[in-house]
Amino acid sequence: MSLLFDGRVVLVTGAGGGLGKEYALAFAERGASVVVNDLGADTKGGGKSSAAADKVVEEIRAKGGKAVANYDSVEEGEKLVQAALDAFGRIDIVVNNAGILRDRSFVRTSDLDWDLIQRVHLRGSFLVTRAAWNHMKNQKYGRIIMTASAAGIYGNFGQANYSAAKLGLLGLSNTLAIEGRKYNIHCNTIAPVAGSRLTETVMPPDLVAALKPEYVAPMVLWLCHEQCQENGGLFEVGAGWIGKLRWERTQGCITRQKNQPMTPEVVRDQWDKVCDFTDSTKPTSIQESLQSVVSVLSKVESGQDITASSTSAPVASPNPGTNPTAAVGQNLPPTTFTFSHTQCILYALGVGMSTKDPDHLRFLYEGHPDFGCLPTFGVIPSQAAMMEGGLSSLPGLNIDLTQVLHGEQYLELYKPLPTSGQLTSKATVADILDKGSGAVILLDVKTYHGDELLCFNQFSVFVVGAGGFGGKRTSEKAKPHVPPPQRAPDAVLVDSTTNDQAALYRLSGDWNPLHIDPSFAAMGGFQAPILHGLCSFGFAARHVLKHFAGNDPSKFKAIKVRFVKPVMPGQSLQTEMWKEGSRVHIQCKVKETGALVLSGGYVDLHETAEKSPGGAQAALESELLFTEISRRIRDSGGDLVKKVNAIFGWEITKDGETVGEWTIDLKNGSGALHRGAYGGKCDVTYTVSDEDFVEIVRGKLNAQKAFFSGKLKIRGNVMLGQKLEVILKDPARL
Ligand code: NAI
Repeated sequence: MSLLFDGRVVLVTGAGGGLGKEYALAFAERGASVVVNDLGADTKGGGKSSAAADKVVEEIRAKGGKAVANYDSVEEGEKLVQAALDAFGRIDIVVNNAGILRDRSFVRTSDLDWDLIQRVHLRGSFLVTRAAWNHMKNQKYGRIIMTASAAGIYGNFGQANYSAAKLGLLGLSNTLAIEGRKYNIHCNTIAPVAGSRLTETVMPPDLVAALKPEYVAPMVLWLCHEQCQENGGLFEVGAGWIGKLRWERTQGCITRQKNQPMTPEVVRDQWDKVCDFTDSTKPTSIQESLQSVVSVLSKVESGQDITASSTSAPVASPNPGTNPTAAVGQNLPPTTFTFSHTQCILYALGVGMSTKDPDHLRFLYEGHPDFGCLPTFGVIPSQAAMMEGGLSSLPGLNIDLTQVLHGEQYLELYKPLPTSGQLTSKATVADILDKGSGAVILLDVKTYHGDELLCFNQFSVFVVGAGGFGGKRTSEKAKPHVPPPQRAPDAVLVDSTTNDQAALYRLSGDWNPLHIDPSFAAMGGFQAPILHGLCSFGFAARHVLKHFAGNDPSKFKAIKVRFVKPVMPGQSLQTEMWKEGSRVHIQCKVKETGALVLSGGYVDLHETAEKSPGGAQAALESELLFTEISRRIRDSGGDLVKKVNAIFGWEITKDGETVGEWTIDLKNGSGALHRGAYGGKCDVTYTVSDEDFVEIVRGKLNAQKAFFSGKLKIRGNVMLGQKLEVILKDPARL
């Protein structure tokens, strides 16, 4: 179907020649009534003549089209629009095209050179558009074109005045696009290239002839057609080619730390990172832009400091041994691990399984009908990357491996482990943190069975003496440990290790002499060889598996622990467990001494989730509040929609997992509350735990504080928070 403009009234400014004339002819040819405006000035804005506009009107009429001429300057915006109303009774489309040039090198630009250019391009487009705006708004239809220029987008020698005005038009258009959206008024900006009297002074004649205005006009017609939903766009167009432009932003970099002044030196040191477009983003709204800036406040507050973005290049490195710039992102050589049921059984014995417990047989006897591999065996194939000394061979990691301590471990299984086969592990240095006395290396290891990703490990390795290189202290790549709930544990299991526990466990592949050789242990400051941290980890994991998952490895999803203190072979391990949804928080103590050896740990189980006694999930406290909010919306009879005009999404979490979703629609109809996944788009979405939501609504937790401390996460238009008060106010009644 052809794109027609029957019944539409179009005002094209500066339509006496060049591009404007082409637009006027094209619109008229497709049925529009056209106001051909042109002051008939020379290219510098001097002189005045009605001839230019008249000739175009004649040409249109000769072809059977409808057109009238207008000779006012765009600086008299009202008059131009009035001409449309007088002749055709309405105004649907405004193409701001009129323009002049007064090119000068910057220093020679006079006040007049500057002012005239701003007046014709920027102020003229403003005045004409403002005069048309209310007509468009009332008829709920309008299409506006602003004419920018590559000189504005990229700069051009000798065109300071013109570039400023042209990019000013883009800013104007960006905001009109937003203000006009709900009235079906769309505003777009073009940067055209065409041969015309403006360009014949700067382009060779052949090019002026070849770059015909008719290769630009169809784009303008499309943008102005009612079918076109484009709004707020910027396009370069010429020679029959059209391209769209948008903003691109680097990940950027936080350049200050909590409670410390921001300094120019840090800015200097982070400059490469500030400007690094790797993994860049493309913000499309001020909300999106602002949101990322505002979120920095809470990031700094929570200790996420300098170099907090994903790309590397942190501060200069006074410690020659550790250079994160060189090391982060480096891959270690892949390792292979071939195994049979022997290794699985050996591992199970290594982490304290025994035939004394009939439940253990399924992990100790390959002939058992349910024979399987303990989930935590998943650390074994991946540790080869560390054992084979790959770490110290990487650039930027010139470290002493005898100074390495295992700090934390995270393991996630994507499927139950096989009991034999060949696995390949690929390790990457995910990040390096500076803890002052040492460096923490985060090593991410993915283990594959054939092409299939089987499990993921994150080793967090503390290297004594490798810190102080001026790096960051935390990383968003780190799998965080989580403190247990503040109540007595739901279950406690105790198991003794044997005197040979370490000697047995090391046969699974951790050959570090620290766990067998007394003299080596003494060098490390220990009275005797110590148990492997990953052995205690295996004990704790199987305690959870036994108590909460009936020893079924397929229910195991992930585990995280932090290694706090050494355990001596022969001591007893006491695992304390708290069940919260599908997560079991764990910590481990040495029973004999009470010393905490594993802290901040958890095991995530797959959601076979035991239900609460009634069979349903434990009710959320937020539920009651949302019920009341729903009542308020109903009672308001649509008043809230008028006041607020926005859609708020809520994701209510427990233990970090979303357990409930609500959407408060105060934009459509007379308002509504939706429960569960919402098909539409929310203007803003809040993620908050059930408890914190209740505290916020009850006024016990300040929302702003909750945001800064990371308890409340906000996606979308942060500004809408103010409007939320209308629904949440008067908490006593909620
Ligand atoms: P042009 O000089 O052929 O057309 C501009 C028209 O605007 C002229 O007919 C002129 O009389 C009229 N005009 C000047 N001041 C006016 C005023 N105060 N009120 C009413 N009319 C006035 O130039 P061209 O190339 O067709 O330019 C059209 C638009 O495209 C301009 O805004 C120009 O800055 C822009 N542009 C053109 C490029 C090109 O390659 N031709 C490149 C980038 C931007």
